[in-house]
Amino acid sequence: MSIAIIQGSSGALGSALTRHILRYTNLSVYALTHRPKSDVDELSAKLLEGDIKGKGKERLSVVGDVDIRREEGLTRAAELVKGREGGGRVRLIACMAGILHPEKSLSSIDPSLALEQFQINTLGHLLTYKHFVPLIPTRKQFDKLSFEWRDEDPAQGLIGRGNSLCWSMSARVGSIGDNHRGGWYSYRASKSATNQLIRTLDHELLNKNSSAIAVGYHPGTVITPFTKPVIGDAKPDPENGRFDIPQAIEKMTGVMGQVRRGDGEKKRWEGRCWDWRGERVEW
Ligand SMILES: NC(=O)c1ccc[n+]([C@@H]2O[C@H](COP(=O)([O-])OP(=O)(O)OC[C@H]3O[C@@H](n4cnc5c(N)ncnc54)[C@H](OP(=O)(O)O)[C@@H]3O)[C@@H](O)[C@H]2O)c1
Repeated sequence: MSIAIIQGSSGALGSALTRHILRYTNLSVYALTHRPKSDVDELSAKLLEGDIKGKGKERLSVVGDVDIRREEGLTRAAELVKGREGGGRVRLIACMAGILHPEKSLSSIDPSLALEQFQINTLGHLLTYKHFVPLIPTRKQFDKLSFEWRDEDPAQGLIGRGNSLCWSMSARVGSIGDNHRGGWYSYRASKSATNQLIRTLDHELLNKNSSAIAVGYHPGTVITPFTKPVIGDAKPDPENGRFDIPQAIEKMTGVMGQVRRGDGEKKRWEGRCWDWRGERVEW
């Protein structure tokens, strides 16, 4: 069994990614959510709606009460995966969590809201990696695993057949070089810090002979409840990087599938942040 861990599986992009994986791959999915255990059945039913039910039911496990501001839920979830599946089976860790309190100026900074963004957007991703990276196959385990699949990688092209992937939702506003407008102090800073942790994680993955590559991703502007307070009822405009959720997932999974370690001179995917065009977001 090869596994995808989707952290933040009830969010707009998290739930759409979970459904995409159930629909188009043979990976088993552990869908983590900070929603309480009492909501798990309802979320499972939502994730399996429509044509996915038949294909996905056996491969989906929703794990509730995983609030990434604290470690207990992540410890419990990682123990569950290890106990059921053993080690060396996780091919994808997707950290989808993010919150936005868009401060317009210094006067609107609220320390507790700023801190919460760091807890969820940055430290929460780091803690998710702390608990799940040990379950990613080493290069040696990966070779054994790929012998098991023979011709058919269960990831079905979602990620490269030669690697595993640590994937963090970042944002272009986390780019310092691209900051031409200001505003959103703490969200910007939390995403810049996420880019730094992705780079640092990638070094550790390489040093420890992990099969995984770590990258950050900017999905463009996606019309979700997250962006509604900022963009209102805006319509999709893909040419200019504004997408509805299916369009965003198509772009995102397209980029995921291209990530390779040391992919030529120009494109070094590892430890960097990429956008929906597959172009690098400058630091
Ligand atoms: N939408 C955009 O245009 C856009 C642009 C750039 C970057 N992004 C990034 O993309 C990601 C997903 O955005 P979205 O539009 O799908 O937003 P969303 O629908 O508001 O989803 C928010 C996510 O945060 C998770 N979350 C919130 N509080 C949490 C907590 N305490 N513990 C664990 N998880 C928590 C939720 O997961 P659970 O409820 O399942 O726990 C959910 O996955 C975010 O990181 C965002 O910064 C989005």
